[in-house]
Amino acid sequence: MSRVELRGVTKRYGTTEVVHGIDLAIAHGEFVVFVGPSGCGKSTLLRMICGLEPVSGGQVLIDGKPMRGVPPAKRGVAMVFQSYALYPHMNVAANMGFSLRMSGVPASERDARVRKAAAILQLDALLDRLPKELSGGQRQRVAIGRAIVREPGVFLFDEPLSNLDAELRVQMRLELTKLHRQLGTTMVFVTHDQVEAMTLADRIVVLRDGRVEQIGTPIELYERPVNRFVAGFIGSPKMNFLSGRILSVAGDRLAVEVPGLPSPVDLTGGSGRSVGEEVAIGIRPEHLAVSAAAPHSFEADIEFVEQLGGTSYLHAPGHPAGPLIIHHLGAVAHDQQRVSVGFDPRHCHLFSADGISIGPR
Ligand SMILES: Nc1ncnc2c1ncn2[C@@H]1O[C@H](COP(=O)(O)OP(=O)(O)OP(=O)(O)O)[C@@H](O)[C@H]1O
Ligand SMILES: [Mg+2]
Repeated sequence: MSRVELRGVTKRYGTTEVVHGIDLAIAHGEFVVFVGPSGCGKSTLLRMICGLEPVSGGQVLIDGKPMRGVPPAKRGVAMVFQSYALYPHMNVAANMGFSLRMSGVPASERDARVRKAAAILQLDALLDRLPKELSGGQRQRVAIGRAIVREPGVFLFDEPLSNLDAELRVQMRLELTKLHRQLGTTMVFVTHDQVEAMTLADRIVVLRDGRVEQIGTPIELYERPVNRFVAGFIGSPKMNFLSGRILSVAGDRLAVEVPGLPSPVDLTGGSGRSVGEEVAIGIRPEHLAVSAAAPHSFEADIEFVEQLGGTSYLHAPGHPAGPLIIHHLGAVAHDQQRVSVGFDPRHCHLFSADGISIGPR
């Protein structure tokens, strides 16, 4: 288990800076997930920790030691990529033991480590198979096995589940959680899938355009996103944003007028705000209900419904306050209909016009 620290890490390709001074401390045994849209710098950051890519500024430290000039093989890290090329002519055992053989680990120890990793990954019965005789999930487990046998202080995963079908992804996600519990090794995992991030992470680092937007536990990010970007990124389907205007301010309380809502919404977050200011109320689909009974209710025209069996998503793309999605438990009879939608202001987030969270705090 190792500690990983990034201090003001930047990355430039030519004159273009793609990572802009990242500070982050990852504790012993922590499972940290980097999440963010394509091109935000997740892989670059991971490759700088690994040593495959030099940093342009700042430093990476592992267990307090600066890593500048230390080659990947000497950092005590093992990386698993999305496209994990297994050697097609070698069986599972040879694939898993390959890096140990290259670094001169004696055959008996190599064998023991491969068997131990195979047992953890339930690959014991497959050690003699060739990669082409394995399923996608089994091949992915061999790729993880190759990393495990090296007994690294840190595992670095770059979207290792992206090539798997939906069911296998869920299964591998659970296996990774189990693996982390069993080994207790520090893990840094990159994904653009927020469900993967939520379910795997001790802490999530949300990145955008080479900058950290927010760092926190999955629930902290879900409950207290610092801005609209994080609010929209964490949670599925994403948070609804109702555009409105501040009607009155009294101390920390304010009332927001929203087009299509019959009465203003009372919220906290008023300090420093002024009447007339444009704001957005954020409310998650699961906090809207098809009901007129909640503290606030309004009418919405549902244009289409996604039926998932146990739940339905009702879409009202043309609502005057902005496009809405409502999460409904159970099935819904008709597609096009007008419904009463209820919500409780306690579930609302408030964002200023520039997207910063202003309440509740
Ligand atoms: N070798 C390179 N030369 C120039 N620019 C690069 C190079 N590698 C990456 N970039 C740029 O750096 C930025 C970050 O890339 P990176 O691969 O880290 O993104 P990512 O978050 O991993 O995206 P994805 O989810 O698509 O994998 C992108 O804008 C990319 O175009
Ligand atoms: Mg990437």
